Amino acid sequence: MISTHNQNKIENRSQYVDYAMDLEKEPVEIAKGIYWVGYSITSGELNCNPYLVIEGDEAVLIDGGSRDEFSKVMLKILRTGIVPAQIKRLIYHHYDPDLCGSLPQFEAIINSDSLKIISHEENNLFINYYSRRTEKIDFRDLDNHYDFATGRRLEFYPTPFCHQPGSFVTYDKLTKTLFTSDLFGSHDENWSLFLKLNKECNECLDTNKCPNNVPKCPIDSIKKFHQKVMASNLAVEYTMNLLESLDIECIAPQHGSVIPRKEDVQTIIKHLKRVKNVGIEYFLYGEG
Ligand SMILES: [Fe+2]
Ligand SMILES: [Fe+2]
Repeated sequence: MISTHNQNKIENRSQYVDYAMDLEKEPVEIAKGIYWVGYSITSGELNCNPYLVIEGDEAVLIDGGSRDEFSKVMLKILRTGIVPAQIKRLIYHHYDPDLCGSLPQFEAIINSDSLKIISHEENNLFINYYSRRTEKIDFRDLDNHYDFATGRRLEFYPTPFCHQPGSFVTYDKLTKTLFTSDLFGSHDENWSLFLKLNKECNECLDTNKCPNNVPKCPIDSIKKFHQKVMASNLAVEYTMNLLESLDIECIAPQHGSVIPRKEDVQTIIKHLKRVKNVGIEYFLYGEG
C-alpha cells in the first residue's frame, strides 16, 4: 500500500504507482483515504475501477464491480487493512452489471444489518434484480449527501441520462475528488491507472489536429467513449455545465484512467462540452 506521505503531491504518487506498484494485487491510494481497488484488463475488454473511501473506522464502496471480478476487488479491499463489516454503504451510480454485478457477493461477505445502498430511485428499481436483501436509499432523500462519523462529507449530484436516467456523481469535499462512473471513462488498449496530459494537450482545441502527433490521443478516446455511451449532446452539455460549478482536483471514473490534475480535468471538460454526435446522433451520423 502507498504510504500517506506527500498526500498532496499527486504527481509524485502517480509516478511511484506507475513504476513500483503491483497493480494486480495492491490497492492504490489516489487521494487521502481513497483507494483504487480495481483491476486492469485483458485485451479488448473494459477495465473497471471500483473505489473504497476509508474514513475513521468506516468505509464506503463506490461502484463495486462485476460478479466475475469480485475476488480481485475483495482481495484489494482486505489489503487496505479494513474488515468487510466496516463497509457501511455501497454507492451505485447507475445499474449496469459492470458495477453492480458483485452486489450479492458483497452483501454476503459484509453480512451486516446496518449496510445500506445509496443510489437513485430510477436505479434502485433495477438494482433490485441483483438483490433485494439490502435497503436501498435514493440520495435525494439524504439531502444529497452522506456524512461519515468524523464529519467528512460526500455530496451527490444528478447527471441525468449520462448515461442512464438516474445517473449521478459523488464529490468528496475533503479531497475535491469527483467519482463519475461512466463519465470521463474511455475504452483504451493501452490502459494506465493515471492520465497525465502534457502542456500541448492542455492547449489543444481540436483532437483531429494533434500538435504532438501522438498515434492515440487520450482525449479522443474519452470523447469517442462518450459518443457511444452517453444518451445525447444535451445530456452531456447539461452535466459539463454542472461540473464546471464544482472545484474538482481529481476525477475518478469507473472506466479508463484516474485524472489526478486540475488542469487536465478542465481540459477534458472543455473538450466534452464541444463533443459532437453523442448517442442517437452517433448512431445516425457517425463520429462527425
Ligand atoms: Fe454504464
Ligand atoms: Fe460502466
